[in-house]
Amino acid sequence: MESLLTDIDHVAIAVHDLDAAVAWYAEIMGAKVVHREDVVSDGVREALIRVGDSYIQLLTPTRADSTVAAFLERRGEGLHHVGFRVANCSAALDAVRASGARVIDEVPRPGSRATTIAFVHPTTSFGTLIELVEESVSTSSTHQ
Ligand code: CO
Repeated sequence: MESLLTDIDHVAIAVHDLDAAVAWYAEIMGAKVVHREDVVSDGVREALIRVGDSYIQLLTPTRADSTVAAFLERRGEGLHHVGFRVANCSAALDAVRASGARVIDEVPRPGSRATTIAFVHPTTSFGTLIELVEESVSTSSTHQ
């Protein structure tokens, strides 16, 4: 079987203070934010830092009922999920579900940067929340 995963799209880190985390990456690593976005449906604000062809996605909740707020409460700051790039999110989601992985999103939905995404539940992936990320044609061609 050919791998469904074509690249690491992003590593998402949950933080309490987004500005402090952005400043830390700038001051300690010299790494700059290339994109900021509020994902209203998920109740999160993100800042993306480019690392090669991938990103670090710093995430902070924008409301108390956000799943990231619950994560910070339960686990504290740290690694929240890994986003893997896939060629076709819908096909990848069907394939992993058919193979027995528990999924969170039954159908793909819009993510940040005009991506199409779906989450795979950590209970069947060794404790790691996985996001399947299909980039839009414009973002994958320019890697913005
Ligand atoms: Co993500």
